[in-house]
Amino acid sequence: MMVSLSTLTSVCLVLTSSTSALLSPKPFPQQANDQFNALRYMGTGGAFHENSGVGISKDTPPQCTIDQAHLFMRHGERYPTTSSGKKLEKLFKKLKAATTEQYNNPLGFMHDSEYFVTNSSDYEHETYYNAYAGLTNCFSFGSDLRQRYNHLVDTNRTTPIFSAGQKRVVDSAIAFSEGFFGNGYSGNYQLVVLPEVESQGANSLTNTDACKNFDGDGNADKVLKGENYQYAQYEADRLNQLAKGYNLTASDIFTMVDYCAFETNVKGSSKLCDVLSPDAFVAAGYHADLNKWYSQGPGYNMSFVSGFTLANATATLLQQDNEETLYLSFTHDNDILRYLTGLGIFDDESEMDKNEIDFKRAFKIGEIVPLGGRLLTERLSCDNATSGETDTFVRLMLNDQVFPVPNCADGPGFSCPLDDFIELARTHTVDYKEACGIQDDVPNHVSFFWDWAEAEYPTVADAE
Ligand SMILES: *[C@@H]1O[C@H](CO)[C@@H](O)[C@H](O)[C@H]1NC(C)=O
Ligand SMILES: *[C@@H]1O[C@H](CO)[C@@H](O)[C@H](O)[C@H]1NC(C)=O
Ligand SMILES: *[C@@H]1O[C@H](CO)[C@@H](O)[C@H](O)[C@H]1NC(C)=O
Ligand SMILES: *[C@@H]1O[C@H](CO)[C@@H](O)[C@H](O)[C@H]1NC(C)=O
Ligand SMILES: *[C@@H]1O[C@H](CO)[C@@H](O)[C@H](O)[C@H]1NC(C)=O
Ligand SMILES: *[C@@H]1O[C@H](CO)[C@@H](O)[C@H](O)[C@H]1NC(C)=O
Repeated sequence: MMVSLSTLTSVCLVLTSSTSALLSPKPFPQQANDQFNALRYMGTGGAFHENSGVGISKDTPPQCTIDQAHLFMRHGERYPTTSSGKKLEKLFKKLKAATTEQYNNPLGFMHDSEYFVTNSSDYEHETYYNAYAGLTNCFSFGSDLRQRYNHLVDTNRTTPIFSAGQKRVVDSAIAFSEGFFGNGYSGNYQLVVLPEVESQGANSLTNTDACKNFDGDGNADKVLKGENYQYAQYEADRLNQLAKGYNLTASDIFTMVDYCAFETNVKGSSKLCDVLSPDAFVAAGYHADLNKWYSQGPGYNMSFVSGFTLANATATLLQQDNEETLYLSFTHDNDILRYLTGLGIFDDESEMDKNEIDFKRAFKIGEIVPLGGRLLTERLSCDNATSGETDTFVRLMLNDQVFPVPNCADGPGFSCPLDDFIELARTHTVDYKEACGIQDDVPNHVSFFWDWAEAEYPTVADAE
């Protein structure tokens, strides 16, 4: 990012490698090399990156086998939505206009730039042909996951793939499935689409569509009124010094981070990312976390209503031995955040402060639901050599790293005993229809995991 920092880093690397001829290689590095990765701070707009993790091995513990697994995955990297695209275009025009007279500043390159979405009909869709292409990400994750779950695939049966109805989600589910089933070489799947409409009620992967009382954005706006933008303001001040007349505001800084994120998703890189300091990304990341905490997370009580229906269904499945052992579901960032909230994963987190950054919190959305974000819930059947018994545990893998359940990690591989996990998942019991204020005759429970083969769900995306 900033020139001085990267120069310093390369000097250090040169020194390290020039001395290594005299010393035997160090088995453990003495630098924490992964302090800053801009992708972590792009909120929900960043390309996929692994969760930072806590160092637990991803391997299934040797005395255990995975005998049931659930995936909740967000669609892959995409173009901006139409509404966020409008904001990005506006920022682009502002920067480009300010640049006409002065090349000699960090934003001068904007004068000769084009807006990165050249055809507005690309808005909302997955990206497919660059370093961070969304459909490629989904395909290769499918192929990787097949290696982990090969023993759970019954090639004599059709495996359901559950997807929310929006086109980009269905496209992601299909790309994943082509990877997972080797394009039909090894097993078959049936797409089970849950349309993103009110009539699905709670039998949905997007159950706020029908939830009349749900207004996450309204809640966040109310709570965050008067949010202190001081960290972003420092960045605006820094750039306004270097690029006179641009009049950048703190909120422009947030939009610039978004622009950097989406241009990267679309083109594979973005010069605007290089203009911003690491601190600006940290500030924008926290701002994005705050918004989701109070709109889709524990800072909004209706998040539990939405998340509980799916958490409860997961708990039920984990207690059953069905012919199906794989439950693979595709949806959106907000639905996954509410699902985790409903599961009780963030119960121990303290309320987020709108003025001061708490660096130690677990609720970092860039680490939870980046584009292509995925949560695996694995049921482990483990032999206990002392007792001679077989016991059941649950382990979560968030964005390809083990994510220990808070206060429940005393099983093999820091897993959580099944009964404790079920108890946690059912802590936030709420009646969906009552809390949502719905009188209509819409489903009050999830049934698609069980009735997908008989009920006639659509197999194609919702009409756009
Ligand atoms: C934009 O994309 C749409 C859909 O792919 C296509 O029909 C249209 O011709 C494109 N427009 C331009 C100007 O390329
Ligand atoms: C699939 O069917 C074949 C032929 O009927 C059988 O030999 C094989 O054991 C079956 N596989 C599984 C996993 O049930
Ligand atoms: C910045 O503000 C000055 C003074 O209000 C104005 O003349 C100028 O047009 C503004 N520049 C941009 C890029 O908005
Ligand atoms: C294995 O069994 C022993 C004896 O019953 C018990 O004390 C221990 O907690 C068990 N280990 C695990 C990982 O459950
Ligand atoms: C939770 O799941 C159980 C078992 O499937 C079901 O009987 C119950 O109605 C569900 N509760 C709610 C509030 O959805
Ligand atoms: C959420 O909080 C509001 C305001 O305090 C309250 O009226 C509502 O009943 C709560 N809803 C749930 C589901 O807890």
